[in-house]
Amino acid sequence: MIERRFYRVNPLPIAAEIHDLDLGRLGDADLTRDLYADWMRYGVLVFRNTPVDNAQHLALSRSFGELEMHPLPQIRNPEEPLLMQLGGNKPDKAYVYDDKDLLVGRVPWHRDTAYTVDICKGSMLRVLERPEEGGDTLFSDTAAAYDALPDDWKRRIASLQFKATLRLDFREMSRGVTWSSIRWATDEEAPGSKPAVPHDMLARYPSVVHPMVIEHPESGRKCLYISPTYLDRVLDVSDEESDEILSFIVDHTLKPEFIYRHVWAADDLVLWDNRRMMHAATGYPPKYRRFALRTTLAGSLKSGRLYDPSAVEAKAELVD
Ligand code: SIN
Repeated sequence: MIERRFYRVNPLPIAAEIHDLDLGRLGDADLTRDLYADWMRYGVLVFRNTPVDNAQHLALSRSFGELEMHPLPQIRNPEEPLLMQLGGNKPDKAYVYDDKDLLVGRVPWHRDTAYTVDICKGSMLRVLERPEEGGDTLFSDTAAAYDALPDDWKRRIASLQFKATLRLDFREMSRGVTWSSIRWATDEEAPGSKPAVPHDMLARYPSVVHPMVIEHPESGRKCLYISPTYLDRVLDVSDEESDEILSFIVDHTLKPEFIYRHVWAADDLVLWDNRRMMHAATGYPPKYRRFALRTTLAGSLKSGRLYDPSAVEAKAELVD
């Protein structure tokens, strides 16, 4: 355990736990500086035993940057739109994976808002209601994954770009999936489970293009900037080459040595650097409830562009 002035840090192979944070010190310049430096060092901070209300969740998040509303209005919290909500009384569509795993709330590997031009800087999640089974969050450190790539792969992907599209029906996914079959659950299997998001949302978020590799704006480390849930293809190569590159890079990034699995405990808060880390939600059986609130830190990279320059991207403040 490393002692800091207002908390202690327990570094894990990937990510670090923060213990005994003195919330009364929020806003203190030394605390903010130390927390920010640890966030940059470890990529994911797990604040253990840190009970917060919504105002404190927002205040702690603001120690790491400016907040923005999530682009999809239907998942913003009605009382506090800077918080987005997952689960609760608005369950996601239930899917059946490999004809055996009936799950809601599963979100395959992605970066938050990777279907927009300015991918967000980070997110801070708190799970207010935990299911009795499942509901974990996985993180992959794409800076460590980049460092471990063979040199010929580093050269091969150095200047490649990929196309990404908002994808809310995971049956359409092809990359980084860990199942071989997926279907929507029937009404008998998961009563009341509903389709994810109206299709007009997809039209509001036209496809975007991002580099495969970014230089992290603060650490200077290279990161694999992929986001399998939203990945369509690599640009300017054949279909076969795009498939080969994406299969290799996604598989590499998901090797166990780059992954941290967060099993939620009461009063945890988890903050991730969305430029460096990819993440996934494992989902849980629909007989349980999970309710989570998340802040979104405004983008800082401006790495992307619209795939079709004549398309118009909806802005968070305009979509209501
Ligand atoms: C997210 O993808 O931001 C949510 C992760 C989770 O619900 O565990």
